[in-house]
Amino acid sequence: MTQDELKTLVGQAAVQYVTPHTIVGVGTGSTVDKFIDALAASQIRIRGAVSSSVRSTERMKALGIPVLEASEVESLQVYIDGADEIDHRGHMVKGGGAALTREKIVADLAERFICIADESKLVDTLGRFPLPVEVIPMAAAQIARRFKAMGATATLRAGCVTDNSCHILDVRGLSITDPAAFEADVTLWPGVVTVGVFARNKASVCLLGTAEGVKTLT
Ligand code: 5RP
Repeated sequence: MTQDELKTLVGQAAVQYVTPHTIVGVGTGSTVDKFIDALAASQIRIRGAVSSSVRSTERMKALGIPVLEASEVESLQVYIDGADEIDHRGHMVKGGGAALTREKIVADLAERFICIADESKLVDTLGRFPLPVEVIPMAAAQIARRFKAMGATATLRAGCVTDNSCHILDVRGLSITDPAAFEADVTLWPGVVTVGVFARNKASVCLLGTAEGVKTLT
């Protein structure tokens, strides 16, 4: 199966986690696009979705799924989103699509994070995928120096301005053995808006697309 087919498989599998007449949190990316398509094609009617990006909002609206503001809801049963990396304990690296800040905000509203990913995303230790960090532009150079002091290399993502008018640093050369401590530390650096490690908001369930079908990791 191709990577695209695996994404379709997990996108479809995620629909079973949606309870009719609830509001669903929806992430961003090519795997989430498959979920949105599968949800729209299903018989399940929902009250609406809280979206983590302009991209997902536009796709859902085009398919007739009502989109609500995050400020309109107090909590969500589930948040469904992809990942750039996920480890065996549900910690993730996210932000390849530059939507990490809104993703963390919507994930934080949800009782359960359902991660949908093809098997290439499963790792033993986070850090192989360049870690996205959203930063206030004037702090980018100082934050890059801090990563250099850790033995890593941070580069500004060319031409990328986020939905929040900020910039993205992609950090290579990290081995994140303690994701919770790493996330807590980097989040405190002045000028960091969001670090792409999701440990506090880790996945409760991962639907992993494999050649043998969908594996459910909990
Ligand atoms: C966007 C994300 C995505 O979930 C992540 O990049 C995975 O994307 P895809 O499903 O296209 O592989 O974090 O900010």
